[in-house]
Amino acid sequence: MELWEAIGGRRSIRHFTEDPVPEGDLQRIIETAGLAPSGGNQQMWRFVAVYNRELREKMRQTVINKVDEMLEWPEVGELAPRLKSIKGYGTYFADAPVAIAVLTEPYRSPLDRVLLPAHGLSYEQIHKLRGDPATQSLGAAIMTLCLAAYGLGYGTLWMSGPMYAKEELEKLLPIDEGWRLAAIVALGVPAENPAPRPRLGVSEILRIIH
Ligand SMILES: Cc1cc2nc3c(=O)[nH]c(=O)nc-3n(C[C@H](O)[C@H](O)[C@H](O)COP(=O)(O)O)c2cc1C
Repeated sequence: MELWEAIGGRRSIRHFTEDPVPEGDLQRIIETAGLAPSGGNQQMWRFVAVYNRELREKMRQTVINKVDEMLEWPEVGELAPRLKSIKGYGTYFADAPVAIAVLTEPYRSPLDRVLLPAHGLSYEQIHKLRGDPATQSLGAAIMTLCLAAYGLGYGTLWMSGPMYAKEELEKLLPIDEGWRLAAIVALGVPAENPAPRPRLGVSEILRIIH
């Protein structure tokens, strides 16, 4: 598929057919995601592909339970409908044939790990100062994953909604020490063909300095 067509044609897909995703296709998609650039080439991404329907259901219920717990917070007020919508918006992965849990670890440059803390900067300050290279790198990998999947005829949904239940979801997944869950990507054959969502015009997002 032509690059411009892939970038312009990809959509967030929220409804999938029952068609399976062969593991060979998944491997090709993840291998391509791994071609993304990363800070220090640290490749701070790992992927757990959940084909198991029972586990995906458990993950969905975990998000729903978390939202129910949050709905009890006294601060919720008029945001209740918005919060409730996460039960749907944050659980589409459960109905896709594959839910890919995307894991990340902190950026480990010696300057960030040794020099800046030695100079008294906290982890949060370093994170802010450096613009969070781990998350930037992860975004590049997830976007590459979505485009690779699209190139093979699949649809994806990049999801951060489920992350309200991050800690609870992490307990359901095999995650090595030092790694954290960052997002879930739903993957499958699209059962819908959504229209493009609106985008800002180039004049709204670009400033040129001559
Ligand atoms: C970081 C990130 C998190 C997102 N989280 C969700 C989510 O939890 N649920 C969902 O339905 N869509 C989610 N989306 C999809 C966006 O709503 C979608 O990308 C946006 O509306 C533009 O539509 P498009 O992807 O079809 O161009 C997320 C997208 C990104 C990049």
